[in-house]
Amino acid sequence: MKTNSRIQLRVQRFDPKKDSVPRYDVFNISTRPRMTVLDALFQVLEEKDHLLAFRYSCRSAVCGSCAMIINGRPRLACSTQINTLGSSVTIAPLPHLPVVRDLIVDLHSFYQKINAVKPYFESQEPYPQREFIQMPKDRAALDLAIDCIECGACFSSCPLTWTDPEYPGPAALLRAYRFIADTRDAERVERLRAVGCEDGIWRCHTVFNCTDSCPKAINPTYFIQLLKRKAIKLSIGQ
Ligand code: F3S
Repeated sequence: MKTNSRIQLRVQRFDPKKDSVPRYDVFNISTRPRMTVLDALFQVLEEKDHLLAFRYSCRSAVCGSCAMIINGRPRLACSTQINTLGSSVTIAPLPHLPVVRDLIVDLHSFYQKINAVKPYFESQEPYPQREFIQMPKDRAALDLAIDCIECGACFSSCPLTWTDPEYPGPAALLRAYRFIADTRDAERVERLRAVGCEDGIWRCHTVFNCTDSCPKAINPTYFIQLLKRKAIKLSIGQ
């Protein structure tokens, strides 16, 4: 890994209120050890262009706000070390989503799909005196699926979300799986029926873009296949 070098940042700029097409602005910056791409964007914002727009929050790779295309791949700016990327770094917003400004995209459609799968527990009654008990082997079924940070990288990279407005997309189906596989939820079969339609799990063509693009190394393709297997067992959508 290189340290303390000069790097050329090419950053896509676009303001839909003023511009007809996007352009790339070039900024030369000095890097320091352990500098992230998000740090570099802050350096540009503070020293070179106060109008550069980008989204961030936790700076710890858990909120998903800073997902963007960095040197052609979806990554989290806060967890990508800039000195691993070479002397020229190109940054663009997530594709196939409306650009609000520069690197900020409109994730409204993404969150609509997530909300549609009811991403919260439907608890069983009567309520127990203490907590709902779950065995370790049952909890293991949720491993990885529960780690999604909803950054939108998979949603923006899936060709089915580009072409079928009804398709929930990989993140929403992953969220659905997370509750369908959870033994504490009271509506697991209803949830499976809701996503087991033609525009749901059966629309997934196993393209794997979602898996390739996930910055948390989750494999949504695998979990969608598990949903299909569960649906087949219950003759849902067949
Ligand atoms: Fe899309 Fe992933 Fe399926 S990219 S088609 S959700 S495998």
